[in-house]
Amino acid sequence: MAVSFSIRAALFSSLFLVPAAAQFTGSAACAECHQPQWAAQKRSAHSYALSRRNDLWLFGAGRQATTPVSRLDPDHYLEHGLSQYTNPNAKALTPGHTTPQGVKYRVFDPGAQILRCFQCHSTGALRFTAEKGIEPAEHGVQCEACHGPGAQHNQLLNPKILNPAGLNDLCGACHRQPPKPGEDINWQDPWNVRHQPVSLSQSACFQKGSLSCTTCHDPHSGELKAATCASCHPAVRHTTKPPAGQSCESCHMPKVGASPQLTFSNHWIGVYAPRKPLLPLLRSRGAAGPTAR
Ligand code: HEC
Ligand code: HEC
Ligand code: HEC
Ligand code: HEC
Ligand code: HEC
Ligand code: HEC
Ligand code: HEC
Repeated sequence: MAVSFSIRAALFSSLFLVPAAAQFTGSAACAECHQPQWAAQKRSAHSYALSRRNDLWLFGAGRQATTPVSRLDPDHYLEHGLSQYTNPNAKALTPGHTTPQGVKYRVFDPGAQILRCFQCHSTGALRFTAEKGIEPAEHGVQCEACHGPGAQHNQLLNPKILNPAGLNDLCGACHRQPPKPGEDINWQDPWNVRHQPVSLSQSACFQKGSLSCTTCHDPHSGELKAATCASCHPAVRHTTKPPAGQSCESCHMPKVGASPQLTFSNHWIGVYAPRKPLLPLLRSRGAAGPTAR
């Protein structure tokens, strides 16, 4: 079991920096005193990012997709090759799979792939049954995934104190971290649009303003707040007036199909050419108009 311990230790230190003797209480313990946050959180996809039907684990809340994962034998889990999609409502290949056979993962593989699935889709420390079955403390992304272990209330993090880059890091623990200086991102790969902190970090609104994930999203429900652009752009003078009723996001955060069934909004806020939703046109101050990059 020494091997499994070191993998778990590595996982926690690389992904979540959870103190060794972290004491998670479970979110039920927060409900009585924080009813508004609790109620909002129960409306979110975070809450349902992982569920269990007997021996079958379902990853994904089903807003766009769920992928089944089942236990093959004491040493292996299978990520099913067919996922259930919402739009259109049908089964089709799981992203990254080329056949419906599925992909087999060793529980204590050095790459810790299957443990990582559970880690991002659950809260608290992963435990193991005597037969190496993975037992997450709490299914889904709940209070302590963002606030830290709650046994000692005075040590909880209030992310309100974080600046936009700090919030990018907090959310990026699961939604992927923004690129480090010099790190190459293939902006032409539509799959990368799924990683919102990566894209947001490139936006002028983030770099020159103080735009963060929570400017637009309620962190508990995940829902969008109203009229967020106008708080910093009260009177935009477009060269061509946008049609009335069209949302700012529809042009400046265009939708990208990352796969035939999955759609994400490009969080690199910018000016886009028609039908080119991956990379914005870069505008240099004083130039006549958008210049291609
Ligand atoms: C017995 C009631 C009670 C319980 C249970 C409780 N809290 Fe609190 N919490 C409070 C009160 C009162 C405050 C405001 C005063 C303070 O900062 O301590 C607060 C403040 C907070 C803050 C803001 C802290 C800050 O520094 O501004 C966070 C975040 C928080 N709670 C999260 C949680 C989470 C997560 C849980 C469950 C693990 C939880 N609380 C359980 C009563 C409670
Ligand atoms: C512990 C991992 C984790 C952390 C930390 C995390 N998320 Fe998530 N988030 C997820 C997962 C997993 C999903 C997918 C839920 C699903 O199955 O649809 C998700 C989905 C979402 C959604 C989509 C909700 C919807 O209605 O479709 C939003 C918005 C979101 N997260 C925002 C945030 C923000 C903002 C933060 C930081 C304050 C954050 N997340 C931190 C794991 C995480
Ligand atoms: C680094 C953290 C992380 C890991 C590891 C991870 N997920 Fe997720 N997963 C997320 C986040 C964040 C989302 C939300 C993506 C979004 O909506 O933008 C998500 C969404 C999903 C969804 C909903 C559909 C979608 O693509 O949005 C499914 C299904 C899913 N994950 C399954 C898995 C499975 C199975 C594994 C392991 C093979 C896995 N995830 C590993 C963070 C993770
Ligand atoms: C996805 C990350 C995430 C999850 C999960 C989460 N919170 Fe929060 N929470 C935040 C962020 C971010 C803030 C700071 C909000 C702000 O800047 O206004 C916050 C703030 C708070 C506060 C301080 C008061 C306030 O609204 O500013 C309390 C209390 C709190 N959360 C309780 C909870 C409880 C209880 C749960 C579980 C039911 C929970 N949170 C789940 C991210 C999260
Ligand atoms: C917290 C403040 C803030 C918010 C909120 C905000 N922006 Fe920005 N935005 C900025 C700043 C600052 C700049 C840089 C202006 C400059 O270069 O002088 C900018 C630049 C832009 C640009 C020009 C991009 C470029 O590459 O030159 C566009 C387009 C834009 N914002 C659209 C939006 C839209 C649409 C929203 C809402 C979805 C939004 N912004 C929300 C602060 C913000
Ligand atoms: C300028 C406003 C804005 C900011 C800032 C913002 N989002 Fe979003 N986000 C949106 C909009 C608009 C959508 C599309 C919602 C819809 O179509 O219902 C969205 C959708 C999402 C989704 C659902 C999948 C997708 O990509 O469409 C996730 C997950 C998400 N945001 C996470 C984040 C995270 C994490 C951050 C911080 C890194 C963040 N968002 C910052 C406006 C914003
Ligand atoms: C129909 C698509 C469309 C809609 C809707 C739209 N814009 Fe734009 N926006 C553009 C285009 C194209 C440009 C670049 C050419 C120009 O300036 O007109 C632009 C430019 C901008 C700029 C950069 C101006 C500068 O001086 O650098 C900002 C900021 C901006 N828009 C914000 C917004 C906001 C806020 C909304 C919602 C109230 C919005 N846009 C709605 C297409 C749109």
